[in-house]
Amino acid sequence: MDKKQEKIAAEVARRRSFAIISHPDAGKTTMTEKLLLYGGAIHLAGTVKGRKADRHATSDWMEIEKQRGISVSSSVLQFEYENMCINILDTPGHQDFSEDTYRTLCAADSAVMMIDGARGVQEQTIKLFKVCRLRHIPIFTFINKMDRAAKNPFDLMDELEKVLGIFAVPYNWPIGTDGDFQGVYNRRLKRVELFHERGDHGASKIEASVFKLDDPTLKNVLSSYYLEKLNADLELLDLAGDEPDPQKILTGEQTPLFFGSALSNFGVEFFLREFIRMAPAPGARISGQGPIDPVATPFSAFVFKIQANMNPDHHDRIAFIRINSGRFEKDMEVLHNRSGRKVKLAQLTQFMANDREIVEEAYAGDILGLFDPGMYHLGDSLSAGKRIDFEPIPVFPPEHFARVSARISMKRKQFQKGIEQLAEEGAIQVYQEPSIGTETYIIGVVGELQFDVLEFRLKNEYKVDLHIQHLPSRLARWVTVEDQTKMPQPGELKIGSSALEVLDKDDRLVLLFESEWASSWVEERNPGIKLLSIQDLEEAAQP
Ligand code: G4P
Repeated sequence: MDKKQEKIAAEVARRRSFAIISHPDAGKTTMTEKLLLYGGAIHLAGTVKGRKADRHATSDWMEIEKQRGISVSSSVLQFEYENMCINILDTPGHQDFSEDTYRTLCAADSAVMMIDGARGVQEQTIKLFKVCRLRHIPIFTFINKMDRAAKNPFDLMDELEKVLGIFAVPYNWPIGTDGDFQGVYNRRLKRVELFHERGDHGASKIEASVFKLDDPTLKNVLSSYYLEKLNADLELLDLAGDEPDPQKILTGEQTPLFFGSALSNFGVEFFLREFIRMAPAPGARISGQGPIDPVATPFSAFVFKIQANMNPDHHDRIAFIRINSGRFEKDMEVLHNRSGRKVKLAQLTQFMANDREIVEEAYAGDILGLFDPGMYHLGDSLSAGKRIDFEPIPVFPPEHFARVSARISMKRKQFQKGIEQLAEEGAIQVYQEPSIGTETYIIGVVGELQFDVLEFRLKNEYKVDLHIQHLPSRLARWVTVEDQTKMPQPGELKIGSSALEVLDKDDRLVLLFESEWASSWVEERNPGIKLLSIQDLEEAAQP
């Protein structure tokens, strides 16, 4: 290894790029803020929160514009902690939950799953978890809000196993979960860490008071009730619990489990340290040319998210790339795989809070924003050496559907162009009803807000007013058969009024249903077919 490569190897080894997955309100924003606090990136926690408070304002057009602005500016937060370089990727939640939320997970090397201790595993977490599963990335679980009444911790572990199919290995264990939180027993450091509620909502770092379990003075601060319960819990964990297995953690079969309170900083720093120790540095990525080693291969990256600015005055689009190998240097020339053209990477930006910073150098694991004149598509690869084609970004299950047409049929051309553009950006999924021309499309989206975005962008960028008829369908199922010659043609299946029959962009037959139940009903009435979600379909196609 020459000096240059040694430097790249060292930089890659100290990087941790991850996303936080959670259901709204579990505490993702609070946790992000606290990680920045411990990383010294902010001094008094509260900056991230301030922006989020804005986000809860009423949802009008300005608001959407603002939300897009916020998503852009906080797409990645980078900070240093104990000589490690940490990238937190933003996974938009709340109203702006969209395919981007899922796609971000394709750019992360691991995920932190935040769970509200009182609520347990919730719907949005399940959806995001499934994407992590598909990618086999490690998942670290933080059960939050332990300062309040929470579910029984054994029940929470059980829930993780039953609902998500992941085995939890507790690294610490809560003492008092009925709203009488006393602190935790840290199983790794073998000590009791006591919780003291403070008035400043965790605006500054804390040091917990710690005791060995056999310290005779412990009983002065923790009553025998808690001590006995703790000893019984720990015994049960030792007997029935799994030992941490680094291999199983890396493939996402086991999840290291932490209890704490992000708001009061309790358990945050221990979590951060353990996370850094166990989470992987950027590893080899799959490509059409074989695995791409992050150190041995010269610069390469892929586009995982494209964001067009809502501001009609500047049509700027930003393509977000994740570096998969090597070192980025300002003004370097790279090969764009899809066009076969050489492009110069000038003016790449990194985003920290609201400031866009021009980046001089970056390494595998880092995320950069690239001003896009309209040439990049999702999944495109860039490489400084030979051509590389990284594996395509999966398509994610849409959950809202509408029949969309232009209000004035003369605008048909612009309408089609606009729809094509948005489909290319991955903002919408386009289907067609068989035997209906290209004047009407069925559009599927992950988050409902995307219909507003669609309407707004077609009006502003293509001068087309839309007619949007929302449909009751909630899931799309692809029709598959064992024997391709038996593939039914549109109109041949017995579906009654339980489904809407459409074709996807590759002319595959898709049925849109209102419920899982309706989908099973159609499967039963049509022997020989199997209805698959897009994720199952992609999994089935994997070698
Ligand atoms: P999100 O990004 O996942 O949606 O969650 P966020 O961090 O905004 O947290 C949601 C609410 O939960 C916030 O309260 C936040 O203060 C609170 N919270 C976060 N972590 C903890 C914790 O460890 N303990 C307790 N008790 N509460 C926690 P809010 O009232 O909605 O907002 P705010 O008035 O505090 O800003």
